[in-house]
Amino acid sequence: MPRSLRGATILDIGAGDGRTFHWFADEGFEHYYAVDISRDLLAHHPQSKGVELFVRDVEEEWPRDDKSIDVVTSFFVLEHIEDLQHLADSVERVLTDTGVWIFTYFPQRREFIHSVEVEKEKKTKGEKVQVKYDEEKFKIQMYCHRYEEIEEAMSRAGLEVHSMDLSDSDGVIGRVYAGVKG
Ligand SMILES: C[S@@+](CC[C@H](N)C(=O)[O-])C[C@H]1O[C@@H](n2cnc3c(N)ncnc32)[C@H](O)[C@@H]1O
Repeated sequence: MPRSLRGATILDIGAGDGRTFHWFADEGFEHYYAVDISRDLLAHHPQSKGVELFVRDVEEEWPRDDKSIDVVTSFFVLEHIEDLQHLADSVERVLTDTGVWIFTYFPQRREFIHSVEVEKEKKTKGEKVQVKYDEEKFKIQMYCHRYEEIEEAMSRAGLEVHSMDLSDSDGVIGRVYAGVKG
């Protein structure tokens, strides 16, 4: 993470209800773009000066300009992303020349039931979002990536890979990554 976020433009991918926003709230950023596929979750995101919310599927549409973002974050999100290369390439494209992508990855074994309403058009899409019990409940697919696949996608995108294991009492449970624009 850069030593100072003063004046920075931050893009939080898969921001959800913004429960990690408080880490950045008092850091003096200029813009904070929170993007999530779920309008319902994003509706709970904290709002303040410089914060803008966007409902988007990052597997598809990337609204930001090239080299426009200083810090991209995505916490607990890669578990839901099928195409890692598309994500890594898109992040690399929007990062400034000194930009950094900070994200976590926790290998999953169980499916995750997402019961909030997602964008209507997702209802008609292939396998990724499937109607589970009724019209308003969706199962968002979990993707079990290997760390090597994540690192390969980052390297192919031209990002320098840094990582740190995250542990609890049972041992290593995940990793935090930094992808640095080289
Ligand atoms: C486990 S939550 C993490 C939320 C938040 N980053 C946090 O740390 O609390 C995963 C988030 O990713 C979002 N998400 C999943 N697939 C997505 C996609 N294709 N495009 C945008 N957001 C997505 C979900 O809606 C959800 O808010």
